[in-house]
Amino acid sequence: MRTPFVVGNWKLNKTIAEALAHVTEIKNQLGAVKGVQVGVAPPATAIYAVGKRLEDSAIAVCAQDAYWEPNGAWTGELSPQILQDAGASWIIVGHSERRQHFNETNETVGKKARAVIGCAIGAIVCVGETLAERDAGRTLGVIDAQLAGALEGVTNTELLVIAYEPVWAIGTGRTATPAQAQEVHAHIRTQLAGRYGAETSQKVRIQYGGSVKPSNAAELMSQPDIDGALVGGASLEAADFIAIVKAARPS
Ligand code: 13P
Repeated sequence: MRTPFVVGNWKLNKTIAEALAHVTEIKNQLGAVKGVQVGVAPPATAIYAVGKRLEDSAIAVCAQDAYWEPNGAWTGELSPQILQDAGASWIIVGHSERRQHFNETNETVGKKARAVIGCAIGAIVCVGETLAERDAGRTLGVIDAQLAGALEGVTNTELLVIAYEPVWAIGTGRTATPAQAQEVHAHIRTQLAGRYGAETSQKVRIQYGGSVKPSNAAELMSQPDIDGALVGGASLEAADFIAIVKAARPS
């Protein structure tokens, strides 16, 4: 049985003061939720303050990206070690916005995933096809190439979470139907089975991301291979994020 994992990816939103107010509300209202792992990914500037505020809570602090080198002359970059020092226990890698706007490739995503997991930090590895790729019938081939690059050399699957985020569903209000998402999630699990064995593949959590809202969260997460959500826009409103976390509770 996989524990669902719901993470709010705040992207480039919220000052430190706003982040603290937001996470305090989430923490106070979520206290009683059992059976769901919860994380928040504030902008890097707020990781330390949010982590301090969550010290007495089970909510994990996540980072939105990391570079693969531990330290050195890499102006502007943040390493897994530096982010862990600030309080991050999970790091998102390969988000489609980074692939689209910051030239990330399957190979660099793999370097990042290896670096994160090598530091004993959890990696949330994002994969997902564009609309053009889906329309051309290339969805599963794109996912396979992204997984092959991202998982190269990754052996510790206990620290691995995959997030399936179809690019056409991110920030568009256009969610994948539960059946569309389930089809890709099942395919990802088959790929994981080929790489790590069937038993291990059953333990790896696969989140769905892309216009997840309180109104569609329960149906998406009731699919057999959807083990939680990576939530963008709706995670910026405490009430919406809390409703999505509650929708993830195993029935
Ligand atoms: P939205 O929930 O805003 O579509 O964003 C999804 C996402 O990119 C989470 O990482």
